[in-house]
Amino acid sequence: MMDGWMQIAEVGRRIVRSGLASSRFGNMSIRFADSMLITRTGSLLDEIDPSQVIEVDLEAASARDALASSEAIVHRAVYSETSARAIVHTHSPYAVALSILEDRLDPLDGEGRAFLGQVPVVEGAFGTAKLARNVARALSQARATIARGHGVFAAGGSLAEAYSMACMVEHSAQVICIIGWRAKVQG
Ligand code: 13P
Repeated sequence: MMDGWMQIAEVGRRIVRSGLASSRFGNMSIRFADSMLITRTGSLLDEIDPSQVIEVDLEAASARDALASSEAIVHRAVYSETSARAIVHTHSPYAVALSILEDRLDPLDGEGRAFLGQVPVVEGAFGTAKLARNVARALSQARATIARGHGVFAAGGSLAEAYSMACMVEHSAQVICIIGWRAKVQG
């Protein structure tokens, strides 16, 4: 089995390669029994090495949280309220754009309808208790959620699964936007 940091590095490269985040933004974590491995704040997702992942307690924040992603509070809340084993946070552009206009994403494509389902949009500034509460509540019922005007949080049984959910959110958002443009062009 790949070490945790190697899984994070691999998915980080995929996130940037597939345009779900520019190198600088976004974060990821993997859950263990009493701790989580999470990207360091400010890390470049396509240049992760062991120094760019931080292990912090699941139970509560500690001094090490200062090094961890500013969204550690959100990841911790999700692990406390769901059975997720991994979380991916991206700033994928179509999902972000849609979240500014809508209160939820209802996939129109077949794959999104079958495997993703409705994706609620939630409120809260990044790194806040409000965002943590809202994302955790949303992910206890949905595979992914979008923080309004900010980005996608997707959860799964593994990092690969969470990444795949984040990809589906962006794909479904693209399909909705394309249909919207076409409707506008056709008047
Ligand atoms: P971090 O580098 O602190 O994880 O912040 C990036 C981000 O995407 C915040 O939403």
